[in-house]
Amino acid sequence: MGPRSAAPRTIVKVLGVETSCDETSAAVVGDGRDILSNVVSSQVALHRPYGGVVPELASRNHLQLIDSVIEQALADARTPIDGIGVNAAKGVAFAASKPFVGINHMEAHLYSPLLAGATANALPMVSLIVSGGHTILAHAVAIGKYKILGQTVDDAAGEAFDKVAKLLGLGYPGGPEIERQAEVGDATAIEFPRSMLHDGTYNFSFSGLKTSVLYFLRKTPQHSVPDVCASFQEAVVDVLVGKVVRAAVELEVGTVSASGGVSINRRFRERLGAECVRHGLQLLLALPKLCTDNAAMIAALAYHKLRRGVPADYSLEIAPSIGLEANS
Ligand code: KG4
Ligand code: ZN
Repeated sequence: MGPRSAAPRTIVKVLGVETSCDETSAAVVGDGRDILSNVVSSQVALHRPYGGVVPELASRNHLQLIDSVIEQALADARTPIDGIGVNAAKGVAFAASKPFVGINHMEAHLYSPLLAGATANALPMVSLIVSGGHTILAHAVAIGKYKILGQTVDDAAGEAFDKVAKLLGLGYPGGPEIERQAEVGDATAIEFPRSMLHDGTYNFSFSGLKTSVLYFLRKTPQHSVPDVCASFQEAVVDVLVGKVVRAAVELEVGTVSASGGVSINRRFRERLGAECVRHGLQLLLALPKLCTDNAAMIAALAYHKLRRGVPADYSLEIAPSIGLEANS
């Protein structure tokens, strides 16, 4: 059984279920940190022909997959569970016999960098959540206590990657495609706007950047795709890194974290890492496989909620779009 066998009964094992976007996932996590299983069934191929997630297709597919994904996660973990955390799903019949807690999808993303061995003691931190649906900068004071510093006023950062990839005729999802092209491009080739970078707020805007790319492509039929990708990516990274680091410095918070699909981006990780070193900040990044939607982050956060006795709510219904509640 490995090194944990010394005190197996003290580990609280929580099953997490995640079905809010285009991944159907179930995971078992011990004590909010040890991933015992994490099954992710991606629908990316299903949605690819449409260049984005089709909600009706997604929910039908979740229903078809969810039972077998949960069964697989329980089988892989090879252990009974003590509680359940569920995101954006209700009527989970099997919940009746175990403590059960509803988990906010964005709060789970925010928690995901703490899964990699670090603990909740890392808080307070300034936390950037950058996904396909959200761009949120939050001051995480403690688990469950957050202040939203800013968010996007239009498109999410991941949405901008996906839309620009579409303009360039690249595949879906766009982020990884743009990153690949950008590797051989010149990030200084085209001067795209850094919207709101110096406006004094912690908000973001990416739709103007996307429009600039569109105009540039129309005006310059002979463009280099790698140069466009590298220059676009650099503009997004400049704004994300600039705002998160400024927030940490201004709020005098020593730890910065980033999560969500866009935080997989290597250029983003490299630039954020360098700026954190320059400012003496500790940086926590989620493991790449925990950046995109997964149930391990749900189970891990559910452990903390269950431990604190957050009451079960069987009428649970969480819209994926509600985001974190500001908690001032
Ligand atoms: O967190 P996530 O899986 O889904 C949401 O909850 O929205 O994030 C998906 C987003 C997509 O927009 C995708 O293009 C973007 O993350 N993404 C990336 C990279 N990998 C995924 N963006 C930039 N660079 C990447 N390497
Ligand atoms: Zn997500």
